[in-house]
Amino acid sequence: MTTEYHQFSLKNYLSCEFLTDSVIQDLKSNAKFLSIGVGLGTYEDHLINTLKIPQSSIYCVDNNLDKKWQGPYGFQFDITGNWPTFITRFDYILFGQVIGVSVNRGRPVSSDKMVAHATHVIKQAKNILKQKGKIFIYDTTLPAAIIDLDTILAQQLYNHIAKTLGGTITRTEHFGSVVEISFD
Ligand SMILES: C[S@@+](CC[C@H](N)C(=O)[O-])C[C@H]1O[C@@H](n2cnc3c(N)ncnc32)[C@H](O)[C@@H]1O
Repeated sequence: MTTEYHQFSLKNYLSCEFLTDSVIQDLKSNAKFLSIGVGLGTYEDHLINTLKIPQSSIYCVDNNLDKKWQGPYGFQFDITGNWPTFITRFDYILFGQVIGVSVNRGRPVSSDKMVAHATHVIKQAKNILKQKGKIFIYDTTLPAAIIDLDTILAQQLYNHIAKTLGGTITRTEHFGSVVEISFD
């Protein structure tokens, strides 16, 4: 059965202000961006069509990869399992509204399980990140995905994961729904 996911608006993504002018310049100079859980990819379309970032800089992952993203820059797999071998290393990796919905096929879990899930996916992403790369997280779905929410807030969860994986939280806003983790 295919799960229908809500697609988040471009406005939501733009308000996260992930891509500074220097990141955009970087991407125009062949840096690589990987979007995990791309869905229909409204934001990624904007990067290519409006910001004029070359298509060859934007890579996408989804377990139900839309036709438009299939091809040399698209990867279809379940991020909760083993990740395939990537030849490319990425400067920027975005988890856009996917961490919360991908745990337990969208059904809420305990905070311990959410920590284990989020640690797994961010660790896998770190493995394919270039040195000095950045992970961007935009996820408003976490509160609804954690049963015993009072024991952990999204912000604490990412602090814990960054510490475990040797990264630094370089930005956190809106109670942890907008986060940047850098790795030296
Ligand atoms: C809520 S949508 C977000 C789509 C887009 N990033 C946005 O914000 O509009 C979640 C996306 O994650 C994908 N997804 C869900 N669980 C996944 C998993 N276990 N592995 C890979 N992708 C998954 C879904 O297919 C869907 O496209």
